[in-house]
Amino acid sequence: MQKLIIDGGTPLCGEVTVQTAKNAVLPIIAACILTDERVVLENCPHLKDIDAMLDIMRHLGCYAEFIGDDLHICCNDIALNVINSDLTGKLRSSIFIMGAILSRCRRAYISHPGGCEIGLRPIDLHIAGLRGLSVKIEDDSGVLCCDGSQMRPNVINLDFASVGATENLMMAGALLDGETVIVNAAREPEIVDLACFINAMGGHVAGAGESVVRIEGVPHLHGCTYRPMPDRICAGTYLAAVAATGGEAVIHNIVPEHIFGITERLKKTGAKISVGDDSVGIAANDRPRALHKLETNIYPAFPTDMQPQFCALLARASGSSVIVENLFENRFGYTSELNKMGAAITVKDRVAVVRGVKTLNGAVVKACDLRGGAALVIAALSAAGRSVVLGVEHIDRGYESIEDAFSALGGKIRREPRATC
Ligand code: UD1
Repeated sequence: MQKLIIDGGTPLCGEVTVQTAKNAVLPIIAACILTDERVVLENCPHLKDIDAMLDIMRHLGCYAEFIGDDLHICCNDIALNVINSDLTGKLRSSIFIMGAILSRCRRAYISHPGGCEIGLRPIDLHIAGLRGLSVKIEDDSGVLCCDGSQMRPNVINLDFASVGATENLMMAGALLDGETVIVNAAREPEIVDLACFINAMGGHVAGAGESVVRIEGVPHLHGCTYRPMPDRICAGTYLAAVAATGGEAVIHNIVPEHIFGITERLKKTGAKISVGDDSVGIAANDRPRALHKLETNIYPAFPTDMQPQFCALLARASGSSVIVENLFENRFGYTSELNKMGAAITVKDRVAVVRGVKTLNGAVVKACDLRGGAALVIAALSAAGRSVVLGVEHIDRGYESIEDAFSALGGKIRREPRATC
């Protein structure tokens, strides 16, 4: 058990480089199942969620190891073991591995992933989509038994543009004989990255990033070396932290168009944004302006994964902001911890009203989920005095040494073991 000790109040200044995107790497690891040849994924972050995905790959008989920062994966044989709830419970989005296993082996056995800290996380769209490809799926005491012996391509209309369901179906269609079409597909940049990866292995995916994705199945995919995209949520987290502390910094390794929804909102808080080819500069005032209404939605709208970090920023704004969470039903849990630091946030259902206060004060707070944890770190960096952030294991799921990134920007933050008595 570890904790972060943060002495707040120092404007974050300097330069920092963003890690490779966790949410791009995870489905790409799953897609390695589509080939029996070796894949090298360059410059991957060492994160708990990635470790959990690698555990699932090894459970299926694949070789999956980090060599330095590169991930080497080879699935020349697949063992059709049941992926039990010990594994899916650590990484609920592991469900998107189903499509890849089915495409390659025509059978899969995976425990229902269940809900998590931020919501119920149903998988009905994944199941309906795979059934649309003629996969028979039965729930045997919580284990989804999938029979893809009759699998064939089809046109799948998603009721909602789910990221994971789109990824699952893209992988499912990759080795089928004919064209699979996903209508109302998610358009997130991570979908485009997955398509680029499948195509780098010799696949034929077209339309990724648009609402209709077409996957022309091929009989065989080959190994490749691939560098996944930078992490747009990590980039947004650093920018929000600089804004919250009234700092000035340049964040490198960004695809600026991926974070347009974030930088436009930062400008509205009064920050000055300068966009380079693969970097974004930010210069912020001491106190941000409130946002009349901040609403999360599917890409290219403002991402739900940035909602907590912006709430931490708006906690010190001049004026009141309203935040509406449209994706997950339980994503404001962290606000009670922010209130311990002197924030004035009230939550009803999916709406938070954030009455900006002049100063936040250091406190002992506990992260209960990944992005909520990042919000607590941002608030602590901008608060007067010392904070202790517990529950760091949640933050480690998605940020590779968050303390190193913020230290590079001059933040006074360090990690310490937590006493266990
Ligand atoms: C991915 C991201 C996650 C991000 C989310 C939304 C990864 C590993 N995770 O999660 O960080 O917050 O996109 O941008 O990439 N839904 C259903 N039925 C389904 C599937 C989803 O009702 O079968 C609902 C979910 O409960 C949620 C919404 O659709 O309310 C969005 O979920 P989805 O786009 O599938 O997100 P994930 O792929 O789980």
